[in-house]
Amino acid sequence: MAETAYERYLSADKMLSFQKKEEDLICDGERDFQGVQQEAEFIWTRINLMLKRINEKLQASDVWEAVDLLGQAANLWGGLTQKSQELLMRLWPNDFLKIRKIIGEGASTADSPRYHESERLARSLWPLFEKRLAKYSLTIPKLLQEEPDDTGHHDMQALLKAMMWYDYRVQEFAIAHLYLVFGVIGDRTAGLKGGTTDFLINRYNSYLFPKLWDSINSLYVDFKPSQ
Ligand code: HEM
Repeated sequence: MAETAYERYLSADKMLSFQKKEEDLICDGERDFQGVQQEAEFIWTRINLMLKRINEKLQASDVWEAVDLLGQAANLWGGLTQKSQELLMRLWPNDFLKIRKIIGEGASTADSPRYHESERLARSLWPLFEKRLAKYSLTIPKLLQEEPDDTGHHDMQALLKAMMWYDYRVQEFAIAHLYLVFGVIGDRTAGLKGGTTDFLINRYNSYLFPKLWDSINSLYVDFKPSQ
């Protein structure tokens, strides 16, 4: 059948040629495993473009647009979380054992440049947030204590929440991925790059915006429950 304009635009032939042929699959689960990994790479390129635009919006003081885009980028992480959950449901551990034999040592997603770029780009937003706080002589504790309805810094409050939400969605993916690892190779088996779940738990503990999460404690420093 002749190639349609739709397929040409997508480079569908070329793109799908990177999937293993059905007859070459070790098991059906390999379609899901390879497919989700490939989808993740595509999604990270979309997230990374959004993060670049968010950075530009903040530099141009378009805070509301940055807030909006952060929410959209966070949703894309939600999609990746769902895909990890799908794999936990779909992948039979003994099938993954067979898949793993042919993946090749060292071929870990931990080496995905697009994944690392997403982390670098997200962290690059923090200095811009702090710069804006300084511009208004604000600190995060001060911003937290402002009432949402009488503040002149509603945009900064929305930005704080959007950054928290973005970070949450990334951490949520890390938790789903961690359970995928528990359910597929166990918590003591080393990954393709030699990391066990200890490595992943440590990584999970590194928020993208640690000062943001820590600042919540400041609200409760002098808190005493009423008698
Ligand atoms: C089904 C089986 C999977 C297993 C058993 C698994 C296992 C692991 C392990 C053990 C690591 C630690 C590094 C290493 O030694 O490789 C790792 C890292 C990683 N994996 Fe997976 N993984 C699986 C699927 C996925 C999928 C589908 C994705 C993406 C959607 C993914 C994304 C990542 C990322 C981004 C890292 C790096 C984490 C970081 O450095 O923060 N993995 N994986």
